[in-house]
This record gives sequence, C-alpha cells and structure tokens, in this order.
Amino acid sequence: MVRAQSRTGQCMKTIIEPFRIKTVEPIRMTTREERQHLLAAAAYNLFALKSDDVLIDLLTDSGTSAMSTAQVAALVSGDESYAGSPSFFRFESAVKNLFPFKHVLPTHQGRAAEAILFSVLGGKGKNVPSNTHFDTTRANIEASGAEGFDLVIAEGLDPRNEHPFKGNMDVARLDAFLAKHGDSVPCVMLTVTNNAGGGQPVSLENIRATAAVAHKHGKPFIIDGCRFAENAYFIKLREKGQQNRKVEDIVREMFQNADGMTMSAKKDAFANIGGWLALNDDVLAQSARERLILTEGFPTYGGLAGRDLDAIAQGLKEIIDEDYLAYRLRTSAYIAERLEALGVPTVRPSGGHAIFVDARAFLPHIPPLQYPGHALAAALYLEGGIRSCEIGTVMFGMQSDGHEQAAPMDLVRMAMPRRVYTQSHADYVVEVFEEIAAEKDRLRGLKIVWQPQRMRHFSAKFEPLR
Ligand code: F0G
Repeated sequence: MVRAQSRTGQCMKTIIEPFRIKTVEPIRMTTREERQHLLAAAAYNLFALKSDDVLIDLLTDSGTSAMSTAQVAALVSGDESYAGSPSFFRFESAVKNLFPFKHVLPTHQGRAAEAILFSVLGGKGKNVPSNTHFDTTRANIEASGAEGFDLVIAEGLDPRNEHPFKGNMDVARLDAFLAKHGDSVPCVMLTVTNNAGGGQPVSLENIRATAAVAHKHGKPFIIDGCRFAENAYFIKLREKGQQNRKVEDIVREMFQNADGMTMSAKKDAFANIGGWLALNDDVLAQSARERLILTEGFPTYGGLAGRDLDAIAQGLKEIIDEDYLAYRLRTSAYIAERLEALGVPTVRPSGGHAIFVDARAFLPHIPPLQYPGHALAAALYLEGGIRSCEIGTVMFGMQSDGHEQAAPMDLVRMAMPRRVYTQSHADYVVEVFEEIAAEKDRLRGLKIVWQPQRMRHFSAKFEPLR
C-alpha cells in the first residue's frame, strides 16, 4: 500500500478515503421525535422502515457499494445480446484472472449459485461441512434435503479471543468428520471471510490444509468467496511471510487450492447485483449449466443484464486495490476501537465488513428472551437514525418445535457499505453510541406480539417493555 507521506517521508497517520466524491445521494435528516413515530409504525422492526427514513444504513454491505466512474462507464458499454454478449466475455475473463476455474456460470446473486450447486450435489442423506455456512448456504443445503455442519476452530466462537484467523476450519475435526461420514459428503465448503462468525478471516495455511484433507478423502473443495479480497488483505497483514506479496497473488493462491467457488458479486465485486458459480469438473459444470438455464437464464448472462456483467468485471479490477483494502479494514477497526474505548464490547479482533457489538454483554440487565440485541438496534435508530441488524435471539431463538431459547450470542451487526460513508459518518456512529452508553441502564427489552413461522427477524412485530 502507498500511504500518503509527509514532507519528512513519514507515513501520515490518517488513512484517507482513497476516492473523492463526484455524485452524491442526499441523506434526509429526521428528528428523534419523527423517528419515535416511524419506529412505532414499523412495529419496532427495522426491516419495516423505509430506507429514506434512515440516516446511516448499516443493515448490510451487500449490493450497497458505491460504483466508481469506471464502473458507471462500463454500465453504458454493457451489451444486452441474449447469447454470446461481449459483456459476458469481459466478465468471464475478469473472474478467471483472479480465480483460475475452468467453468464460470453467472447467477443473479450468491444464493442462486448455492441453489444450483446443491441442486446438483445435495439431496437427502448428504452432509456438507464448512467452517460456518452462511444462512442462505445452509438454507439451500437443507432445501435439497441435505444437512450442513459448522466446524470452525473453537477460538472462532469466543467473541473476546484475539486469534488472527478466527474463521479457520478445525482441520482435525474435518478429517474425523470425513472419516466418519465420508460416503455422504458431496463436498467440503469454506466461507471467506466467515460472515456468520463476525467477518473473521481464514489463513492461507488453513485453506491449504482444508484442501489437503478434502482431497485426501476424495472430496471437491468449494470456497464461498463473497469477501475474498478482505480475506486476502488480512492474510497479507497477519500471516507470516505474506507481507511482501500482492493481494491479487494471494487471491489466486487461495483459490488455486479449490475445485470451485460460489460468489455474491454484491460484496467484493462492488456490484449492486450478481454472482457466479465456478467449477473445474466438466461433468458437474454441465449439470449445473443445465440447471442454470432452467432457473437463471442462458449461460452467457445467467440472470443478469449485460451491464451488470460489465460492472462486475470492472469491480473485480478495483477491489484488489491495496489502498482501498487498507482503508476498508481500517474503517471497521477504527469504529470498533472507539466503541471499546467507550466500554462497548465488540467481537474481537474487528472483522472486515462489519462491526459486531456484543449487546448481551453491553446490556446485562436485559435477559436474552427480551432481546438485548434488538433493543440496542432499536435504540441506535431512535437516537441516531442508524439502521443495524440483530444477530441473536430474535434471529436464531425460535426452535423448529416452536419453543424459544436464547441464541449462543446476542450481537448487533453494523455492516459497512463499500466506499459509501466517510469518517464523519463513522464519528457520528460513535457519538450515538456515546449517548446510548450514558443512559444504557434505562434501555428496556421488547416482546414479540406477532411472528411468522420462519425467518421471524424479517417481519416480526414488537412492543417495547415498560
Ligand atoms: N455467502 C455469504 C458469506 C454471504 O454473506 C451472503 C450474503 C451470501 C452467501 C448470499 O449472497 O445475498 O448475493 O444471495 N450476505 C448478505 C449479508 C445478505 O447481509 O451478509 P446473496
């Protein structure tokens, strides 16, 4: 990375946003009183808010990136031919430049790639291990009748543990799992970075070891690569011997170990929509392509417009920029450090795409079944117009037999859209926390007054407890 230098040749302390702003999107200001009404009208569910009523939207980093001038230009050159569009070939060559797979199938987003993969590899009685499956991956595995297993290292489940690669696979457990379930396992997966585990990276050494164990048992190794560039930059920063390598070379080596990948281009490809499934195996790829035609579209567009394919192709060139990645990882670390200084506990060390606040530890007076994570998320909106997402008992507490229990953790995720917010937005987020922390004992939990059968966090209705 080339850090801005001072007259004396020293690196400047401030890591600036490595872009300037040409087109802006106004934020509509709201008062606390307005937000009080809006929150009540949304039945205290932040998914029910209109995004115009949100000041800082940290609900997700998915599909919310700002495009560069080169990406906007690429949109205009998108070719919308049904078959054989040049946009597809630009997309395919940009993907293959970083990820050396033989077959690349475009999909409309990541979960479509997962659905196609498991329509081919899944099925009743199959078992799919991973470090931690993201929820859509798990849901697609289960929808096929198969079962997903999370084998992340023990450090990855401890929010205060400072292990540099908390997304690592527990390779010994994977080996034992494959020895026991061998015949029923269609593939081994690995999510980089581990979103569900706090955006934690996987080391190159662990990727090699996971691949070796999968291959020893004759299983294809598939990487969920959504945040591949952030993972590669963590490797550069933290893994022994990687400091002098180019991020793009680290990326290539990460994926050379694999037999395929699923990808959501809505994350580390700077696109608003898109994804792909890549595979080396000809037979598998042919079955996947047949499924693709059925559910997504012809193999040279796969559910995307030509302009989307071009935006992804350009995004993949920009995401490996090391000045961008330094700024990206520093943003989460900066907010997390300032929150810790206020006594707000976060999942350590800070991950790439998001800051995860440990709401259960921050609000110990609110029991898990009164949803401390949700209470904090609602307070962030009320006090500051910030939208975040509870990852805790609201999301995971409802069991399939209809009874409710505390989730392992009650977290609030603040996911950072790429290239969208500046440092003053970050400082504002910290200031809102400062206000909340000063009066945190007055925060109350909530009760659910209506909920659907499944995925209740999206649409449940709440009432605050007095
Ligand atoms: N895998 C991971 C690790 C993800 O984080 C996501 C999406 C997907 C797969 C599915 O991709 O949304 O394009 O279908 N994560 C978003 C989030 C939704 O907010 O974390 P998709």
